[in-house]
Amino acid sequence: MAQLDDIIAPVGDAFRAFRTLLNETTVSEQPFMRPITRDILRSGGKQMRPLLTLLTAALHGDANDPKVQAGAVLIEMIHWSTLVHDDVIDEAYVRRGQWTPGTLLRSKSAVLVGDYLFSKGLAQASRAGGYGAMRSATRAIELIVDGELRQMEHARRLDNTEETYTDIIRHKTAALIASAAECGVLPAFGDDAEAPQVRDMYRFGELLGLAFQIKDDLLDFGFAEDGSRLKTGKVSCNDLRERKMTLPLIRAMEDLSSGERRTVLKHLRRASERNESVEWLRDFVARSNGAAYSVQIMERYHREAVELLAVYPDSPVRRALEAYAAYVIGRAF
Ligand code: IPE
Ligand code: IPE
Ligand code: MG
Ligand code: MG
Repeated sequence: MAQLDDIIAPVGDAFRAFRTLLNETTVSEQPFMRPITRDILRSGGKQMRPLLTLLTAALHGDANDPKVQAGAVLIEMIHWSTLVHDDVIDEAYVRRGQWTPGTLLRSKSAVLVGDYLFSKGLAQASRAGGYGAMRSATRAIELIVDGELRQMEHARRLDNTEETYTDIIRHKTAALIASAAECGVLPAFGDDAEAPQVRDMYRFGELLGLAFQIKDDLLDFGFAEDGSRLKTGKVSCNDLRERKMTLPLIRAMEDLSSGERRTVLKHLRRASERNESVEWLRDFVARSNGAAYSVQIMERYHREAVELLAVYPDSPVRRALEAYAAYVIGRAF
């Protein structure tokens, strides 16, 4: 599998320009904010969404276009802000191997930090006249919030199904990755979201986003092919601790008798307080075909996404997008 550095290569200079703009955008006049944005910048993350923006831009136009660059920064800032908020909601105390702002600052200030990052992203996009990107990204935020609220409700009621799970991940994760892909092409089509190429790139991002979240949910269980523990930089089995029923578990519960189902639900209710219940659930999923089934679905989304690239002639950028898609489902963190 190609590493991210190889995938970046065809848009290397545009990616460096993006990083510079990201640094400039997050520099804060507020003394209180400075150490926080510095820490987030340092821990970095994979920056997969802005990379996708630059790649879809290079496939249709210019990845150095100021509107594309502004879109890439906006998407990454929304991503950060969502993660800061998400870790408050999920009570997750580590991410990227570091304490989360919610842990260091307490949740109340972390909520404001998330808002701050997000408004900085929008402000720089509006300065660059990236209105197509702003429309696309604000729609994504709307969907993310909807996905998060639905997820909460199903976690409370413990009634997630494969269908509701798919809707949730389409909103909470795939919408932003779809928007990332869309923001790359919009400037080449005068910000027309209805242009067929723009719609195709949105769909490409959405399919990869669905695959991305299924992969994330598999990684949360800590399942590695060789059975070893994974180093994701996050607390493992946090989804179970939060009563979140993800695809491997939903599938594992499919053919249970009502008595067996009650036992699983009992452990889910206890998982936030008892490690034994988390272990029990993890073993239960490991014994089932839940993980194998999830891999199948993930690979189907991946295949459908890659098929959308078939109309483009072979080029280093198209190959980088194919490698990107392979990375989404092959990544180990
Ligand atoms: C994590 O996204 C949030 C999900 C949608 C699962 P990433 O795995 O892209 O996070 P970073 O930015 O690389 O840490
Ligand atoms: C990530 O969701 C954040 C959003 C997509 C809003 P999760 O809670 O499932 O992901 P991690 O595991 O914390 O990154
Ligand atoms: Mg969450
Ligand atoms: Mg989380």
